[in-house]
Amino acid sequence: MDEFELLKQEVKNCTKCDLCRTRTNVVFGEGFRNAEIMCIGEGPGYYEDQQGCPFVGKSGQLLDKILNVCGFTRSEHVFIGNIVKCRPPNNRDPLPEEREACLPYLYKQIELINPKIIILLGATALKGLIDPNARITKVRGEWMQWNNRLVMPTFHPSALLRNEKLKKPAWEDFKKVVSKYREIVNKDHFSEHC
Ligand code: URA
Ligand code: SF4
Repeated sequence: MDEFELLKQEVKNCTKCDLCRTRTNVVFGEGFRNAEIMCIGEGPGYYEDQQGCPFVGKSGQLLDKILNVCGFTRSEHVFIGNIVKCRPPNNRDPLPEEREACLPYLYKQIELINPKIIILLGATALKGLIDPNARITKVRGEWMQWNNRLVMPTFHPSALLRNEKLKKPAWEDFKKVVSKYREIVNKDHFSEHC
């Protein structure tokens, strides 16, 4: 088994925080093992917990739609992960101790996948990876650096579902990702709409 598979097995059996007691499935993450883009969300919701896959509910469908418009797929371009790998009961925000227990797994995933671009989806991802005091409404749409990687913070798809007005700025953020991808990964990257 390679290091990535070993990590997956370790996470699937993890009991490092109390979320292990209430989960149905651990959601390790999904996508291309050597993706140049990694999307990071908050944590599994009801459907993700049921199926063991990230972003499969309503937000996930919207995320897939956005990625597809950008010419990106889970299987070829993107790996999708979360700050916590087990569902917080009733979809509450993950607690600080839960985030701390789980973050080393995300760091290891980032190291092994080695993406050039990280897309942070929403406040929990931004605060968890970058800075607990950062505000998504303030910093979204601007490139950041984290450990020599480019980071684009944007709204969580669930925020776009709650507030239609956020869709346009979020789309601008994803367009920046597509042009950066053309600049540093594949100048011939094809997408139908941008
Ligand atoms: N929302 C998230 O933040 N992550 C998921 O995997 C699903 C919904
Ligand atoms: Fe382990 Fe993370 Fe699940 Fe907590 S949320 S039990 S740290 S995998």
